[in-house]
Amino acid sequence: MKGEIDLDTFGIYEGISETIVTTIRGWASNAAPMGIIRKKDKLFIRLFKGSTTYDNVLTEKILVANIIWDPLVFVNSTFSDIEDKEFESISYNGRTFTALKNSQSWIAFECTNTKLTSESMVTELIPLRTHINKCLIRAPNRGLFAVIEACIHATRYQITGEGKYLRLIKAYGDIANKCGGEEEKKAMEMLYSYL
Ligand SMILES: Cc1cc2nc3c(=O)[nH]c(=O)nc-3n(C[C@H](O)[C@H](O)[C@H](O)COP(=O)(O)O)c2cc1C
Repeated sequence: MKGEIDLDTFGIYEGISETIVTTIRGWASNAAPMGIIRKKDKLFIRLFKGSTTYDNVLTEKILVANIIWDPLVFVNSTFSDIEDKEFESISYNGRTFTALKNSQSWIAFECTNTKLTSESMVTELIPLRTHINKCLIRAPNRGLFAVIEACIHATRYQITGEGKYLRLIKAYGDIANKCGGEEEKKAMEMLYSYL
């Protein structure tokens, strides 16, 4: 499928796209926010050691990038497990992978040319299969972006315990509350409950 798909159509533009990556091992599905890096028509992901996604990709060499604008999914998949009923299982060419039922679109990737370092892996992503569930027309909303930023600082806070991250989370939380809708406000409340 490489070269045949127009990545823009599936929401993956140049730079880093924040997606929810779903992976599977055995019967267990996993979801976590992960950045898909696009440089022209090449795609990569950097996965830090210690996550379930890292382990699953190392073993299965397949992942699905889900495009989704749901702030609660960003928060919940960062800090806990997404419920089984939110996943759908797809079989393709003898392989099984898992995606989020509520995503706008998803792309399943084969992971190749994997490079391992002591802290992380970088792997190239080759599109295997794509799917569009629904087209979403939505103006940029600072509240949603603020929830995503707050999630990132919260993961750093969990690793380091440094107070500067708490201050950043609070600053982004204020933006989420000012500019977001009910979902963004609920997502920020969830995020605080995980700290
Ligand atoms: C918006 C966002 C983007 C992230 N991108 C990455 C990434 O590209 N690589 C990575 O290793 N972790 C990334 N993380 C951190 C993981 O999502 C986090 O460690 C998560 O808890 C891993 O979950 P898992 O153990 O279920 O895989 C990101 C977090 C957020 C909130």
